[in-house]
Amino acid sequence: MSEVLNKIQSRRSIRKFKPDMVSKEILDQIIEAGLWAASGRNSQTPIILCVTNKEVRDKLSKANAQVMGSKADPFYGAPVVLVVLAKKSWPTYLYDGSLVMGNLMLAAHELGIGSCWIHRAKEVFNMEEWKEWLKTLGIEEEYEGIGHCVLGYADGEEPKQIARNEGRVFYVEEDLAQETVVATGRIVEVDVDNRNFTIDSAGDFSGRIRFNVPEGANVMPLEKLDVNMHVKVTHANFMTASLPPQTTAYEVEVL
Ligand SMILES: Cc1cc2nc3c(=O)[nH]c(=O)nc-3n(C[C@H](O)[C@H](O)[C@H](O)COP(=O)(O)O)c2cc1C
Repeated sequence: MSEVLNKIQSRRSIRKFKPDMVSKEILDQIIEAGLWAASGRNSQTPIILCVTNKEVRDKLSKANAQVMGSKADPFYGAPVVLVVLAKKSWPTYLYDGSLVMGNLMLAAHELGIGSCWIHRAKEVFNMEEWKEWLKTLGIEEEYEGIGHCVLGYADGEEPKQIARNEGRVFYVEEDLAQETVVATGRIVEVDVDNRNFTIDSAGDFSGRIRFNVPEGANVMPLEKLDVNMHVKVTHANFMTASLPPQTTAYEVEVL
């Protein structure tokens, strides 16, 4: 499995941290990964606050606990909090901000840093006190809290992988029984290795058409086709707008 795919699967939320601070060099790499997240129309509206100041971190933790009605530290002792906020006026702000969060957590894992998404950033940054605090940082516009990505060195074993729930993927594939159409013409090229052949069609669609032949399709072996053969091809009703246009062959008859 590729390293990236492996990291995606092995990342886990960490809920017990050592007090040791993460170096600025590492934090900057994690933040950079957040900045590279895709965003709707490349808006890049989400912003990231990197809180390593213990006093502010503790106040944020208290505010978060207050929203929950709890007294425990919702940041699980993590020394760093990356707060992601996004501009409320932008239509895709929530998705954009969430993707930043995803990048931050993956980058942290790649760099050996434990992370956990901690919720309630929306509620905390809706509080007047925290809106005012944003202003002291020069953040004046209307931002909504998306999440806190808490960071630190994991204290203890990595949590075990949790099985993925079944039935969450629905494949919508080409339906071989779908409506088909017919083209006739002379073969101009046969590419056995790439499982396609091209004809010069004289029917409704005049011009070259490339037919891809899926593995296992009920089409005569491509080796039996040759340039200049006159053929009738039953094919999918859908053609890509490539040059030449391409579609899938279901049946080939030599005329
Ligand atoms: C939107 C969101 C909000 C979350 N909020 C919290 C939270 O407030 N506290 C917490 O401990 N974990 C929180 N998590 C972490 C999830 O509980 C965790 O991702 C989930 O249990 C799956 O575990 P994994 O991250 O190890 O795969 C949150 C995750 C997401 C995506």
